[in-house]
Amino acid sequence: MKVLVVGSGGREHALAWKLRQSPRVSELICAPGNGGMAGIATCVPVPAEDVRGLLALARERAVDFTVVGPEAPLSAGLVDLFAANGLRAFGASRAAAELEGSKAFAKDLMRRHGIPTAAASTFTDAAAARAHVRAAGAPLVVKADGLAAGKGVIICRTLAEAEQAVDEIMVRRAFGAAGDRVLVEEFLEGEEASFLAFTDGRTVVAMPASQDHKRVFDEDQGPNTGGMGAYSPAPVVTPAAADEVMRTVMVPTVRAMAAEGRPYRGVLYAGLMFTKAGIRVLEYNARFGDPEAQPVLMRMKGDLLPVLEACVDGRLDEVPVEWLEEAAVCVVLASGGYPGSYPKGLPIAGLEAAGCEEGVVVFHAGTALKEGRVVTAGGRVVGVTARGSGVRQAVERAYRAAGKISFDGMHYRRDIAQRALRREGK
Ligand code: AMP
Ligand code: GLY
Repeated sequence: MKVLVVGSGGREHALAWKLRQSPRVSELICAPGNGGMAGIATCVPVPAEDVRGLLALARERAVDFTVVGPEAPLSAGLVDLFAANGLRAFGASRAAAELEGSKAFAKDLMRRHGIPTAAASTFTDAAAARAHVRAAGAPLVVKADGLAAGKGVIICRTLAEAEQAVDEIMVRRAFGAAGDRVLVEEFLEGEEASFLAFTDGRTVVAMPASQDHKRVFDEDQGPNTGGMGAYSPAPVVTPAAADEVMRTVMVPTVRAMAAEGRPYRGVLYAGLMFTKAGIRVLEYNARFGDPEAQPVLMRMKGDLLPVLEACVDGRLDEVPVEWLEEAAVCVVLASGGYPGSYPKGLPIAGLEAAGCEEGVVVFHAGTALKEGRVVTAGGRVVGVTARGSGVRQAVERAYRAAGKISFDGMHYRRDIAQRALRREGK
């Protein structure tokens, strides 16, 4: 089969890496791909947002199956467009991707169907939002309704910060049309985890839980990023907690979407907070997490392709999905300045040596090939991902490999998965 992977980040490299191992994949194409994906697939420079260009590419190359990584093409209706043209694509439809594309929609859906989440109010008017903020008091969380590349959430410790956040989003329109509406949400305390599942709209199959590291610096300091590292399993999600998440969040969400005429197929991602009062949904994503996909896919046994096909074809109940007992850890190496502005085009040394370390795969995120050399091309440059008998061994392997890679200005967190190690008491 000819398979097309849409996207260019670490998540998409991990998807391509896993699909490359499928005996059923005869040809792998990535659009637009990156410097690492170019080593295992044919990269074609069609941007992930250009859904018409991707349709033309899929037709021209007679692609049999398309796997969509990022949210933008899902929200732009890639899966619907492909289906209308008789092409199979894995991912949420435009109507289903609303779950990620509108936090107000997601919040109302959870409310209508009794899915546990933080209390929140939605506003289209800045004055009303400010009045509510003053009445509610700090701390609280102000969120832009729409897609804002992970930056539309502002945690406000004081009233002044909250009022400023409302202005930033609604008046100064820091996130453009994503700020037409804001949510003002109760501040929750606890430990976070990412819970992902495959679904065909009916059957829901859990992936092992993972944990992301959103802040740029150690000890969760500094601004939010796309994610500086991730690991799986996440010990906060005990087997009993995973059952509860499936019973109270994942299955009810898929049922709710079906009942509301927006059948959900693809990957459902719930960002969860484990609070003293119980499990709460912070957000949904309509796709694999990045960097969560890297450790999670490394722990997947067997062939990914039949699972993705079964999601599209509505027969996920027929396909076994199995996981390795081993843990996996991903450490992201970022460009100097990230998550602010950063230089591009810097040569990267040591990639090959790092990739030779036992149990290690270096997933490229922001890289490109320039005259045959791999250079930096994004904020998150590579995700050094390692498997190990437990989190400790995976951490040691990932950092040993990361130590072999260098480029000007490179920085990374030194405390990926420390929370898991502390919980394990090792
Ligand atoms: P989101 O994009 O909604 O997941 O928000 C990004 C990050 O903001 C989350 O991963 C949490 O760390 C934090 N966050 C979001 N909502 C809340 C909340 N209600 N209480 C505390 N922290 C939150
Ligand atoms: N790592 C968080 C996300 O993919 O949204």
